[in-house]
Amino acid sequence: MKKIAILGSTGSIGTNTLEIVGRMADEFAVVGLAAGSNISLLHEQVRKFSPKIVSLRTQAEAARLRADLGRLPIRVVHGPEGAEEVARFEENDIVVAAITGIEGLRPTVAAVETGVRVALANKETMVVAGAILKSRAASSGAEIIPVDSEHSGIFQCLAKERQEDVRKAILTASGGPFFRTPLAEIKDKTVEEALAHPRWKMGRKVTIDSATLMNKGLELIEARWLFGLKPSQLDILIHPQSIVHSLVEMRDGSTLAQLSVTDMRIPIQYALTYPERRNSGLSSLELSRVRSLEFFEVEEERYPLIAFARRALETGKSLPVTLNAANEVAVEAFLRRRIGFADISAVVGEVMERHRVSEAGTLEAVFVIDRETRAQTDNLLKQRY
Ligand SMILES: NC(=O)c1ccc[n+]([C@@H]2O[C@H](COP(=O)([O-])OP(=O)(O)OC[C@H]3O[C@@H](n4cnc5c(N)ncnc54)[C@H](OP(=O)(O)O)[C@@H]3O)[C@@H](O)[C@H]2O)c1
Repeated sequence: MKKIAILGSTGSIGTNTLEIVGRMADEFAVVGLAAGSNISLLHEQVRKFSPKIVSLRTQAEAARLRADLGRLPIRVVHGPEGAEEVARFEENDIVVAAITGIEGLRPTVAAVETGVRVALANKETMVVAGAILKSRAASSGAEIIPVDSEHSGIFQCLAKERQEDVRKAILTASGGPFFRTPLAEIKDKTVEEALAHPRWKMGRKVTIDSATLMNKGLELIEARWLFGLKPSQLDILIHPQSIVHSLVEMRDGSTLAQLSVTDMRIPIQYALTYPERRNSGLSSLELSRVRSLEFFEVEEERYPLIAFARRALETGKSLPVTLNAANEVAVEAFLRRRIGFADISAVVGEVMERHRVSEAGTLEAVFVIDRETRAQTDNLLKQRY
């Protein structure tokens, strides 16, 4: 029996993970859950899965849950330290890291330091601290298994391959809801239109990142660290059907690809059961029904954030931290209807232009750069919007 902790249990990845674990109750038991503020859903999850430790964002939320749970013997903790405690819980065999954004960094690092398997969904963590995570995993023996469908695809393609045989890896992107929108109309797109993703049902932040293609930019940087590839070996193709999740071209000219129906439960389950596979109960991929698989180059005019993400990938150091922080603040401002859709890339671009690149080799340095960038982005928003 494998014991699992889920960081971000009330989110899209978290609830999908619990569905899998519920279906495979003879193989997995839930021992820890960390959520933000969704007390009622966490309460339901506690009743169903009986974890030993749970965490919420604030002390008040934790106190409410504690009262709701009555005498159930469950440790209820809170705040960033609470999420870290869940991540470090001594019974964990697998930690699913699925808190959105930089908030997931400390708990993810904590899980990696304990030497368990970390099923990594939180891509922002690899973007801002890829080198740190890799070196802590090397010291502790932790296995980092990707949950992102594109990285799971590359991971599966590379399972029996030697790194030196890889020519390049190509991540696919659906193109989001505005792939075919006339360029002049994109700037007026509303929050609702940007959240209407054509293929995937995900959390709000990652859905907006998919509409701007920043999601793919972050994934390029994540792939660099996960697979030890050079920036020049990483590419993106728009693939509106979202059936081929990734392709890996080998030096002999063969291209390997991973295909599946568009459902996050496949890569999540694989990260839990790897190297084995189990029946997911999902329908087969019927290519005769899909009929055509299309691939397009990325139009930078349509997705200006991709050029910034490429620059951050190539420059490294503090620039990925700045890219991520400015984007998180700008996306939040868009979701609160403070700025328009096209302003997201304008704001991120301007913050990156002003940034002076420095080293970001420690967690402390990452947090300082993250805080400074958020303050600068907030100031820019106040001045302009
Ligand atoms: N969804 C996908 O299909 C998908 C695919 C690939 C990668 N990812 C990545 O996976 C991560 C999660 O995505 P998602 O779509 O599942 O996001 P989501 O639906 O927004 O869920 C985020 C989760 O994080 C929790 N959370 C937020 N702030 C927290 C904090 N300070 N402390 C503890 N928990 C906190 C939320 O709790 P409350 O809701 O209780 O506040 C929720 O459980 C992201 O990094 C995303 O890029 C997602």
